[in-house]
Amino acid sequence: MPLTLSSQIEIVSDLTDELALVDILADKLKGEMMDLQHGSLFLKTPKIVSSPDYAVSANSRIVVITGGVRQQEGESRLNLVQRNVNVFKNIIPQVVKYSPNCIIIVVSNPVDVLTYVTWKLSGLPKHRVIGSGCNLDSARFRYLMAEKLGVHPSSCHGYVLGEHGDSSVPVWSGVNVAGVQLQSLDPGFGTDKDPENWKEVHKQVVDSAYEVIKLKGYTNWAIGFSIADLTESILKNLSRVHPVSTMVKGMYGIEEEVFLSLPCVLNANGLTSVINLQLRDDEKAQLKKSADTLWGIQRDLKDL
Ligand SMILES: NC(=O)c1ccc[n+]([C@@H]2O[C@H](COP(=O)([O-])OP(=O)(O)OC[C@H]3O[C@@H](n4cnc5c(N)ncnc54)[C@H](O)[C@@H]3O)[C@@H](O)[C@H]2O)c1
Repeated sequence: MPLTLSSQIEIVSDLTDELALVDILADKLKGEMMDLQHGSLFLKTPKIVSSPDYAVSANSRIVVITGGVRQQEGESRLNLVQRNVNVFKNIIPQVVKYSPNCIIIVVSNPVDVLTYVTWKLSGLPKHRVIGSGCNLDSARFRYLMAEKLGVHPSSCHGYVLGEHGDSSVPVWSGVNVAGVQLQSLDPGFGTDKDPENWKEVHKQVVDSAYEVIKLKGYTNWAIGFSIADLTESILKNLSRVHPVSTMVKGMYGIEEEVFLSLPCVLNANGLTSVINLQLRDDEKAQLKKSADTLWGIQRDLKDL
């Protein structure tokens, strides 16, 4: 059961008996493989292989796509689109040729548009093409919430939905600890009238990737942990709910084939259902705005 990555995402968490790495840069790829293999004593992944040839990934259950160009300092995710669409035209047909039954998790940015591109290029049903979407944004939100409240992130609940990144939507109405809605304690929670300025927490979520990239050049740890969490739900058939990117046509008044993050159930069959959240009108309007922005970009993509 190989689990393929097209790059060096930090995902070696004893979830799979085989890990196959694919990248276009043969030397870098071999270096990554050797470095991982040297950690074998500490892992329970007995087979770690790599090759620029996708044959090495044959019969993968999950394929995580992280290939392509990454953001430069100050560059928006949407700016990467055309370059990464061209990269995906090389990657996706090869992935599907060797692993026709796989579930694909797309990580490369702009992740929502590239999940749509992957769905189109792969011919796979939509429940087997999942974008990592706002899984990381929500994790960042819950970390910042935890810092503010002094409670572990696993006990701080809240979703950031919509587009991964700049136009993501914090669902203030659902933010809670042990079922206590923070909005019920202060009706101004998350608005401009909020004395505790929770809006700033969402702003920090949006700014975090830019800040980390400015400081260290790239992000890898949190995204790696978050993808490992998604793969665990799939490989162990857990049916856990994650805020990931899925095709949202027909939901919340969205009429186009765009991928955005909503809370979704992940298990061995892939993304099997979407939780129907009761959103406020302003939250629905923000989702619709994200969808319009993404469709504006997708409309102009050629040869999909
Ligand atoms: N969705 C998220 O939350 C999230 C978080 C972090 C990074 N990302 C995205 O993940 C992607 C990878 O980021 P990174 O920091 O690992 O970048 P990176 O530049 O370190 O790695 C990208 C790899 O893709 C390879 N590649 C390029 N063209 C290829 C091709 N045609 N076939 C196979 N491999 C190819 C490159 O050789 C390189 O090794 C970027 O698009 C980045 O924006 C997304």
